[in-house]
Amino acid sequence: MNKKTAVTILDKKRNNEKVTMLTCYDYVMAKLISSQDIDMLLVGDSLGNIKLGYENTLPVSVDDMIYHTKSVKRGNAGAMLVTDMPFMSYESNVKEAVKNAGRIVKEGATEAVKIEGGIEIIAQVKAIVDAKIPVVGHLGLTPQAINKFGGFKAQGRDKEAQDKLIADAKALEQSGAFAIVLEAIPERLAKEVTEVLNIPTIGIGAGRYCDGQVLVIDDMIGMFTDFTPKFVKKYANIGETIKAAVRSYIDEVKEGKFPKEENTYK
Ligand code: KIV
Repeated sequence: MNKKTAVTILDKKRNNEKVTMLTCYDYVMAKLISSQDIDMLLVGDSLGNIKLGYENTLPVSVDDMIYHTKSVKRGNAGAMLVTDMPFMSYESNVKEAVKNAGRIVKEGATEAVKIEGGIEIIAQVKAIVDAKIPVVGHLGLTPQAINKFGGFKAQGRDKEAQDKLIADAKALEQSGAFAIVLEAIPERLAKEVTEVLNIPTIGIGAGRYCDGQVLVIDDMIGMFTDFTPKFVKKYANIGETIKAAVRSYIDEVKEGKFPKEENTYK
């Protein structure tokens, strides 16, 4: 399997090929997903909800991101590995941002970091890129800004917000970001952003015209059911399969049907 890099991802836009990305938080899933030749694995800070059971992504630490990135790294066959910078690991100043991005690369062995925000964090993006770390931007519904937005609400609905998002996307590209995730924005706006940029847009709830798509793995295989955004398509119902397997196991143990002779040592 060919190893995917930032160069591969940029080439995809030039060649008009779609970029595929899924979130991933551990070794077993990294092996399964990357065996299918996906382009990018994102160790998203959504692990706060999905793996740690928090209400949102705000409590996630740099150490949490490094721990899960190490696990994914060991199982990844050839996808480009991207890790989220968690809330308050980059906002306060440039030095702190570079230090934390560096830790995630050095200790987690990730290949790029993703950062939420536009013009307000441009100095950080430039400095991280200058430190030789590839950066993916993230605009629209940025979950770390949930308290500012007043909930998980689609963004970019009025003209002012749309103009800002386009300006943010251009600024990210100019600062050296090699891709931008667009989350929960109108399809028409995502199309416009995609058309003005030379770097790929990767949509989640941003419609059909982005250069690529990303979903949270546990949403798309029916593992995480606390809440399911409208933009998710469920490709499997693994949660129900697990429940049925556990039910059968409990029943068989209680009834003395498991273990059988073939499960025992002579
Ligand atoms: O943390 C995450 O999973 C993400 C995706 C929703 C893009 O940022």
